[in-house]
Amino acid sequence: MAYILGVDCGTSGTKTVLFKEDGTVVSSVTVEYPMYQPKNGYAEQDPKDWSDAMLTTIKAVLDESGVKGDEVAGIGISGQMHGLVMLDKDNNVLRRSIIWCDQRTAAEVDEMNEKLGREKLISITANPALTGWTAAKILWVRNNEPEIYEKCRHILLPKDYLRFILTGEYATEVSDASGMQLLDIANRCWSKEVCKDLDIDMSMLAKVYESCEVTGRVTKKIADMTGLKEGTIVVGGGGDNAAAAIGTGVCEDGKAFTTIGTSGVVFAHTSQMSTDKLGRVHTCCAAVPGSWHVMGVTQGAGLSLKWFRDNFCHSEMETAKYMGVDEYYLMDKQAETVPVGANRLLYLPYLMGERTPHLDPDARGVFFGLSAMHTKKDMLRAVMEGVSYSLRDCVEVFRQMDINVSDMMACGGGGSSPLWRSMLADLYGCQVKTASSKEGPALGVALLAAVGAGIYSSVPEACKAVVKTDKIQQPDAQRSEEYEKFYQLYTEIYPALKAQFAKLAAL
Ligand code: XUL
Repeated sequence: MAYILGVDCGTSGTKTVLFKEDGTVVSSVTVEYPMYQPKNGYAEQDPKDWSDAMLTTIKAVLDESGVKGDEVAGIGISGQMHGLVMLDKDNNVLRRSIIWCDQRTAAEVDEMNEKLGREKLISITANPALTGWTAAKILWVRNNEPEIYEKCRHILLPKDYLRFILTGEYATEVSDASGMQLLDIANRCWSKEVCKDLDIDMSMLAKVYESCEVTGRVTKKIADMTGLKEGTIVVGGGGDNAAAAIGTGVCEDGKAFTTIGTSGVVFAHTSQMSTDKLGRVHTCCAAVPGSWHVMGVTQGAGLSLKWFRDNFCHSEMETAKYMGVDEYYLMDKQAETVPVGANRLLYLPYLMGERTPHLDPDARGVFFGLSAMHTKKDMLRAVMEGVSYSLRDCVEVFRQMDINVSDMMACGGGGSSPLWRSMLADLYGCQVKTASSKEGPALGVALLAAVGAGIYSSVPEACKAVVKTDKIQQPDAQRSEEYEKFYQLYTEIYPALKAQFAKLAAL
């Protein structure tokens, strides 16, 4: 049996997982790194942290498992979407990467709308101009750091920078390239028109592949550093969400997943391209050739809970260490003791602005209804509920687009919380399942590598052979009714504060 390798370059760390071709995990290693926030609304990471983490983790999984480089049939890379990596003519990284949750580009979004027109942009890129997407960031560097832009010769996404390190190739694939806002989504190639109107030199862009195609081979230098075999194939891979779809078997109409990682995403597969004219959800090419997906994004999902943990849950972190359990497990247990509605406390998870359904980089987090009777655990439950309300907002948009979901999977760190899954089932009004493998994106890209290596003949075939469901959470009618009242109130809070968010940002 051959082995396949999946690398996932996330926001909190890079995880490399070595699988058997049937999806069994052989070894998994993660290395974490920081996110820099030099200003309110800015978010950056150092590409060297990503590449160091990738090389360390690849070497570690091979060393730990005793699997030889020549037993690895192929490598897939997944990663946080939309980040901007700029290289000079000698392939030096020119500045820290401006990553997906950065919100500095409001002026550049206006510039894109002026130059292209909102309708034209949506008709080609399937999405309205977005502050967090790569095109606006490229323009921001050109407008604010012209000396850096001048030197730029290659523009890559985070995972594609890792591919460059592994193979020396400047390549990308359709799912992640969709999030740059320079791709013609219907035709799955760079849009000459968008690049021309924005005056972006297309020679800086990487070659576009389908996600399961071979894009390059591991170089000798990297083979010597990691234990991989020189020449091992590296397939296109996918943006983290498209990759998670493959890892959870979401590769046919009717199938969807919710992931609660740093961001929260509700993702549905669609064989017909479908766009939301209001731009509240994104339409991108799927990692399955010839199909697309729609996804709604909550900027601060797991990020909200991590923020709460880091600032208010030091005692839980200590206790968890002492008990040898996960701190999020203890936090879950505390939140479970609070009733639905968190004793009339609501939370808006807009710590990093928001995308679905309110495209608003100025939106910020809110606790609504705070009273002297509330305690930390009410706030904790309110955070988890607020994230769930925001994910329900995404499902509402899908329903308005006639994208019907009959099968919902849950994944990401938050998807492993039984409490969070029950909130989602109650708020969506449908069952929420988990995959037996917890490795969503890493498994997804490893399966794409297995297709590229010829182990499986197609992506759906690989999913059918490997992905199995595990736990099933049914919705509870009584709780659903209770949540509905709080959700309806939740939907009224952002519109009431919209103008004040803008004023706050301007102070
Ligand atoms: C999707 C998005 C995030 C990132 C980070 O549009 O911005 O899900 O991919 O995970």
